[in-house]
Amino acid sequence: MRTSAVPHLCPVGLEPRTLRLEVFARDADGQVKEGVLHGPDGRWYPIIDGVPCFLTGILQPDFTEFAKRHDLPLQETTAHNAAEEQAKTNTTFSDKWRRFKNYGLEPKHQKFLLGWYCEKFGLNDLDELTKFHARRHRILECGPGSGFNSRFMAEHCPGTVFALDVSDAAFTTFENTRDLENCFVVQADLMEAPFPDDYFDFVIADGVLHHTPDTRAAVEALFRKVAPGGEFFFYIYKKMGAARVFTDDHIRESFMKLSPEECYKACEGLTELGRELSRLDAKVTLKKPIPELEIPAGTHNVQRLLYYNFVKCFWNEAFDYDTNNMVNFDWYHPHNAWQHTEDEVGEWLETLGVSEWCINDANPNGLSVLLTKPE
Ligand SMILES: C[S@@+](CC[C@H](N)C(=O)[O-])C[C@H]1O[C@@H](n2cnc3c(N)ncnc32)[C@H](O)[C@@H]1O
Repeated sequence: MRTSAVPHLCPVGLEPRTLRLEVFARDADGQVKEGVLHGPDGRWYPIIDGVPCFLTGILQPDFTEFAKRHDLPLQETTAHNAAEEQAKTNTTFSDKWRRFKNYGLEPKHQKFLLGWYCEKFGLNDLDELTKFHARRHRILECGPGSGFNSRFMAEHCPGTVFALDVSDAAFTTFENTRDLENCFVVQADLMEAPFPDDYFDFVIADGVLHHTPDTRAAVEALFRKVAPGGEFFFYIYKKMGAARVFTDDHIRESFMKLSPEECYKACEGLTELGRELSRLDAKVTLKKPIPELEIPAGTHNVQRLLYYNFVKCFWNEAFDYDTNNMVNFDWYHPHNAWQHTEDEVGEWLETLGVSEWCINDANPNGLSVLLTKPE
C-alpha cells in the first residue's frame, strides 16, 4: 500500500482523514507490506501483503496471529446482517482470482474485453474508451477481479483509481497494479466501502452487484459514493428466458454445493459443448419467433442460440481452455447470482432521484447501466 492512499480512507463510522498509519515492514518499492491503520476510536485495520483490510465480522479473516505479532488488542467486529450470504459467495471468487491472475491482461483478452467495454459504455472504439477515462479524477472500481480494468483506467486517467474487492481478488489486483503510482487497492465489502460519500467522479462495478446478497442495496450503497455530477456504471445479469432459467436452476442446485475444485471439473462438459458448437460455426434461420422462450425470429449462430437461451456453455477462442471453463464455473458456482429486469432497474434509479441513465444490452445476458448522479 502506498502511504498516499491513507488520507482517502474512511471506514464506516469515522470522520475523513482520521486514520493513523503505523508501518511494520516495507517492500523493495517502498510500499507498506505490513502495517496497521489506527482509528481514533481504538479500532485498527491491518495491512497484510500490501493490502489494507476493512472487512468485519464473519467476512474478516482470522487476525489473531497478526494481533499477537504486533501487540494489538484483539477486537470483536460485527458485519451487516447479510454478511453470511456474502461470505459464501467469497469462496468462489477467492479461489477464482487466486487461479486466474492473468485474466484480462494478455493482449488477446484485452482486445475482447476492452472492445466489450466500448459496447457497454456505448462507445465506438478504443480511442473513445481512453478519452472516456481521460476525464476522470477519482475512480472507484468495485470487484476488480484480476484488476485488468483498474489497471487500464489508471493508465489512462490523470487522477487516481481505487480498487475494492471483498475476496482475495484484492491481492491479485494489488500485484497486477502495484507498479502504478495512481492505483490503490483495498479489501472491503462494497456495502461498507471505506471512503467518504460523494467522493468519486466515476464508480464502476462490472459483473459484481448481482453477486451480493441484495443487488438493489448494493446499487444504493455505491450510488452514495458517487460525487454529484459523477457517473456510475454497473453491469448486472438480466432475467433470462424460461428454458435458460430452468436449466440454470437445475445445474446450480448441484454445482453450488461442490468445492471450487470439483465444480471446475463438473463444468468441463459444458465448456466442451461450447467449444464444439462454436467450432461448427453453424447458423440457423428461424422464420418464426418463440416468444415463450424469448427467442426472436432471424438468423442465429447455433452456439449463441444455445448459450443465450438454454444453457451457459461459454467458449471464446481468445481464451485458453481453463479460462473458458472458469467463465462457466463463474456462472454456476457463486452462492448469489441474481437476475433483474430493465423495469426493476428503472424503478431503483427513479427512487434514487436519477433522471439521466441509459441501459444497453451489449451483452444480451446482462444489463449495462450508465447513469449520472444529479448535481
Ligand atoms: C465475476 S467477478 C468480476 C470481476 C471483474 N469485474 C471482471 O469483470 O472481470 C466478481 C467480483 O466481485 C467481487 N465481489 C462480490 N461481492 C462483492 C462485495 N460485496 N464487495 C466487493 N467485491 C465484491 C468478487 O470478489 C469478484 O472479484
